[in-house]
Amino acid sequence: MRALLKATPNLIAYKNSTDQYMTTASLRGGDRVLHVAWPDGTSADFPFLWLRDNCPSGFHPQTRERQFDLTSIPLELSVTNAALENGNIVLTWDDGDHISRYDPEWLYDHRPGFGLSDPAGVEPVLWRGDLPPNDLPRASALDLMSSDDALLAFLVESKKTGLSIVDGMVDDKNAGMAIAQRIGFLRETNFGTTFEVMSKPNPNNLAYTSHALPLHTDLANQELPPGFQFLHCLANEAEGGGSTFCDGFAIAADLKTTDPDAFRLLAETPVPFRFHDDDYDIRRHHMVIDLDAFGNLHELHFNAHLAGIFDLPADRMEAYYRAYRKIMQMTRSEKYVMTTRLEGGEMVIFDNRRVLHGRAAFDPNTGFRHLRGCYVDRGEFDSRIRVLSRSKG
Ligand code: OGA
Ligand code: ZN
Repeated sequence: MRALLKATPNLIAYKNSTDQYMTTASLRGGDRVLHVAWPDGTSADFPFLWLRDNCPSGFHPQTRERQFDLTSIPLELSVTNAALENGNIVLTWDDGDHISRYDPEWLYDHRPGFGLSDPAGVEPVLWRGDLPPNDLPRASALDLMSSDDALLAFLVESKKTGLSIVDGMVDDKNAGMAIAQRIGFLRETNFGTTFEVMSKPNPNNLAYTSHALPLHTDLANQELPPGFQFLHCLANEAEGGGSTFCDGFAIAADLKTTDPDAFRLLAETPVPFRFHDDDYDIRRHHMVIDLDAFGNLHELHFNAHLAGIFDLPADRMEAYYRAYRKIMQMTRSEKYVMTTRLEGGEMVIFDNRRVLHGRAAFDPNTGFRHLRGCYVDRGEFDSRIRVLSRSKG
């Protein structure tokens, strides 16, 4: 028979290491929670099932992966006793003799409703066409290659703006890749692990011509378009070939206030994107403005040259075109577009799912232009920020 909860709340109080403040924990059986109050005035309720699911004994000691099987306990599982032992909160469960021990600081860090703090959870700082290119985050290749602190600071700044510059790159076509690999493994695509942006015979991509490229995000036709893009400028000696960038999050945020109907259509209507050549036919529907599960701006998919043939119902087509044309016009507006020119020895890094990039046409008869590109996905980028932040305490 299941033991009854104690009628009176089971109160634990103990002093922290400075012997000054008290953390308290009490069982609230009616609500099926453990209530914990910390010395800084914070308090939180921890549901019994959550506590059991996250009992430290349920995790593999080396891999830190959960081995506990949630189906092995009843939904009505209860705590019969709470006590203090060596600074830990110790719970006794009513389904046998299982005991769980929790570090109050660990509980603090995982309060329900708040989530674990994240060094990579860097808020985007939106920018518009009036941001001078010289104000972009900038670092030297040597610093990034030799100093973890410099790399961490630069990655965090790059996440804020979604766009940054590395200078002092050696004239070696692998130099950009070496920096990208300091961050994480490279994202391979149908264009390779790295790709050469230059005017080529028989191009399978408009980037491999000398034509202008309107602002776009790369590979919107992919199931998951690449995250951060690295374009190392090895030579930019032709006439033309200047670069353009705009912050897609700023455009989306402004559209939401100035034309909410257009914003909603772009955020709710999947449209097709497609790349096809002799070897591949890669297709995917995406929203142009993609919101995450919390309703925050997550990513943009905007690429007029890879946009497929719109396939929404005829009676919704014109309204969609109005919205799509509106955001397209914003990507042409001085209000949003930053114009700059990459020099040999510079590398631009940008979040390809936030910042749109483009270039002016160039004349290949007047000089050589060669950028070498690669991608590192957002997940690896964020992971590097977290791992480099560990030593910061
Ligand atoms: C690309 C691209 C920009 C440039 O390769 O996807 O947009 O400056 N290149 O050539
Ligand atoms: Zn591109």
